[in-house]
Amino acid sequence: MKGSDRVATPISASPVWKSSARDFARDLDLSTEEVANLLELAREIKRHPARFRTALSGRYLSLLFEKPSLRTRLTFELAIKQLGGDSIVSNGPIAAREPLKDVARNLDRWTNGIVARTFLQSTIDELARWSAVPVINALSDLFHPCQALADVLTLQEHLGELHGKKIAFLGDGNNVAHSLMITATRLGMDFALAHPEGYAPSAEVVSDAAAGAAISGASITITTEPQEALAGAHAVYTDVWASMGQEDQAGERQKRFEDYQVSAERFAQARPDAVFMHCLPAKRGQETTDEVMESPRSVVFDQAENRLHAQKALLLMMLG
Ligand code: CP
Ligand code: NVA
Repeated sequence: MKGSDRVATPISASPVWKSSARDFARDLDLSTEEVANLLELAREIKRHPARFRTALSGRYLSLLFEKPSLRTRLTFELAIKQLGGDSIVSNGPIAAREPLKDVARNLDRWTNGIVARTFLQSTIDELARWSAVPVINALSDLFHPCQALADVLTLQEHLGELHGKKIAFLGDGNNVAHSLMITATRLGMDFALAHPEGYAPSAEVVSDAAAGAAISGASITITTEPQEALAGAHAVYTDVWASMGQEDQAGERQKRFEDYQVSAERFAQARPDAVFMHCLPAKRGQETTDEVMESPRSVVFDQAENRLHAQKALLLMMLG
């Protein structure tokens, strides 16, 4: 739809395309100030949803899902509808019949934004490179930035000011851990991740997060000792041991991650008022227990609700 910035390329030249659209392909595509503004807007939208009923009137989103989703897909559908727009959905492989660069240049002629859940981060990056409209990462192998926005909104609601507070993540150094590490630490929260040997987060992501932490004054601890991560934590977070696409490793992972389950005993190693967090879906009996999920200090459904409010704010920033 925003095709006017296209430049004709000589047929012999290899096109070097970078669309001028604003993307949220990874957490660091928003500045720390933009994240803070987005959170403030999300709170405002949550308090007064009716005020935003026509804010994106006539705007359409393409939702592309290579993997299953309950929360992300439905909250994006609902978010755009409640802002006065609408969405179209495609499930399954994104580029099975034609190159990604062609898919991107179809969708950007019809709709005002693309939300994509993919196996590979490179699929999101390639869509963003070719699309003339914003591309939003709805989860890849490397990041889950929309989840992290809802998570920090939830943390602010329960903990107030995040500077000087600590969050512990037990389990896999995966997409959810990556995005949470970057987003929580840039807002001043200390972040500690305890993982089994061989399941550390990406060194590159840790280094990017450390740069933001250096500015905010937060610390990052990566350890194999759950107790070290949990000590003094105001929030305890976990995620599935085998992510979508890793189902064939589930048996092996179940053995390797056993000590990292957020059981009631492990949860008790954090502060006595610590909240329990999970992006969902959760596998009770694996990364956590029914007792912890259902405990009064579990905020998992607040996180799920906040996906809606945070993504409305994100859509307003990207498409407004
Ligand atoms: N947390 C999350 O992204 O949930 P879905 O996989 O259901 O979208
Ligand atoms: N790490 C999980 C998160 C699901 C929301 C996955 O990628 O499957």
